[in-house]
Amino acid sequence: MASKKGFISEGIIEEVRSRVDIVEIVSEYVSLKKGGRNFKGLCPFHSEKSPSFNVSAEKQFFHCFGCGEGGNVFRFLMKIENLSFPESVRQLASRSGVTIPESSQENQAEKSEREVLYGLNQSVKEFFESQLWDPAKGLRARKYLGKREISTELAKRFSLGLAPDSWDALLTHFQKKGFSTGQLEKAGFIKANEARSKYFDRFRNRVIFPFTDNRGRVVGFGGRLLGEDSKAPKYLNSPETLLYKKGKIFYGIHQAGKAIQKDGFATMVEGYFDLLTAFQNDIENVVANSGTALTEDHAALLKRYTENVTMVFDSDVAGRSASERGFEILLKQGLRVKMAVLPPGEDPDSYLRKHGRESFQQMMDSSKPFIEYLIDSAAREMGSSGSVEKKSACVNKILPFIAKLPSSIEKNEYINILSERLQISDKAVYGDLMKHGSSRSPGFAKIPSRPVSKGRPSLAEQCERGMVQIMIQNPGHIKYVEEAVAISDFKNQDLSAIATMLFEQNGLEGSISLDKIMELLPSENQKSLVGAIAMDLTEYEDLERAISDFARGMKKKERKIQLQKIQKEKSFAAKALDVNQFQKLNENCQELRRELS
Ligand code: UTP
Ligand code: MN
Repeated sequence: MASKKGFISEGIIEEVRSRVDIVEIVSEYVSLKKGGRNFKGLCPFHSEKSPSFNVSAEKQFFHCFGCGEGGNVFRFLMKIENLSFPESVRQLASRSGVTIPESSQENQAEKSEREVLYGLNQSVKEFFESQLWDPAKGLRARKYLGKREISTELAKRFSLGLAPDSWDALLTHFQKKGFSTGQLEKAGFIKANEARSKYFDRFRNRVIFPFTDNRGRVVGFGGRLLGEDSKAPKYLNSPETLLYKKGKIFYGIHQAGKAIQKDGFATMVEGYFDLLTAFQNDIENVVANSGTALTEDHAALLKRYTENVTMVFDSDVAGRSASERGFEILLKQGLRVKMAVLPPGEDPDSYLRKHGRESFQQMMDSSKPFIEYLIDSAAREMGSSGSVEKKSACVNKILPFIAKLPSSIEKNEYINILSERLQISDKAVYGDLMKHGSSRSPGFAKIPSRPVSKGRPSLAEQCERGMVQIMIQNPGHIKYVEEAVAISDFKNQDLSAIATMLFEQNGLEGSISLDKIMELLPSENQKSLVGAIAMDLTEYEDLERAISDFARGMKKKERKIQLQKIQKEKSFAAKALDVNQFQKLNENCQELRRELS
């Protein structure tokens, strides 16, 4: 059903693309100014102070040189609105007057099924609430919440409820209201026995936490067993339904959204009570992943509110590896992740109740960027007497994370931290980093091990390479290189191809990211050459001077040949007593000599 719903033909997609203008669409979200051939603005996908976000009307694409995000108009809408591809096409289709033929009746059927399900979830929430606030039936559960220091007010704000200690309280209640067992089972509220002869309530004897989507609609439930003594699992959640997809929901997102925006970051905890206790302490920028693995959808959902996340997970090993996996996923979506470390055996709930809000805030304030946290804990584990093997194992553990960072600036920063803390040379780290480049992050293509027996490159070739290095590392200077040399001055084929591409892109973009360069180069050889050059740590104090030095070096051979040629012509002119010609050639000669010296 869902896949059919997503299907839109290529023709329609093209039609939509041709009818919308990316500049117009982007302008609705970003204030753009014309700058050269492009429009520029502050990137909506990462925070920056000077604009590196470019939109090209000619090419109908956008690109941010800060974070590397880029693509066509659909990509822009997907990113900014958190839409799927078909959703973005649909949205643009409707505003540009393109009709997308609906392929079947299923959409309608599914739509109304969803509507019914929202209604049912809402009624179930109210049912659980009525149980909790019933003076007699809810007494034990209310006492339990009191023991966990959850106020009545907060319980009501989160619509907490109670699933009574009964096999069929919910079933009977909703059957009376006209719902079929089929409906209730599909919605995840009842289960059948093995013979499918009897149905019983899924949630029994539990405190209930309704899950809402970011708009506040109830989509599912979690339940914590009342007390600790039973064999039943401590926590139980709704199964996946049409509305509840655990990979797409954060517990608390609806209530926390405003505070997240206001505070500029989200605090991510694992448990329901971790979140509630935080709220109880007036910390409201909190979401809980409810013990599920983080997904890209989670990250996208968060990105609607903030780019910054601080994870506060249990300090046990499981918690740590869960957060390491989660980190990768959040990172891919361009979120900045920090890690707050709790003392062993504590979760945010227990910590807050033991040490109070201020101490918790202090711990939050001292949270470190995730990679730094990784580096620190690795360095600490290793102690001061780390052997080479240990250091190298440590580098290997951390580099994959660094390799995934979106910008080379950040990569460099963490390589510096890593080499400093482990006391190893950053060149060694850079070398290893290459090995961790994946095909998906072309910024770090592998370098071929040093070309065998090719000998030292000629002086001219060294200059060509230096010139390319300056362009890659300082895209702003491409224009000076263009003034100083022509493509024909690059004699090495690969360097010439790279320079050609850099010149072309510079004309279009004004600047170019390493990822983009990699993407645009057709040959693996050239990609790895660029990787190697990009990592060349030679620094030029005076770039413009270096450019003119390299230019001279590149042109030297040619000039020498030219000089010889002119000298020959000069002697012909002398013999022919052609004074004018002789003088002209003489001037040329002097100029060439000057340039050669
Ligand atoms: P924990 O086991 O750390 O529980 O699970 P907790 O939150 O500290 O529980 P309390 O304090 O004893 O009540 C962390 C979270 O993982 C989810 C729940 O959201 C829980 O809050 N979880 C855990 C489940 O969904 N199912 C489980 O079986 C266990
Ligand atoms: Mn707990």
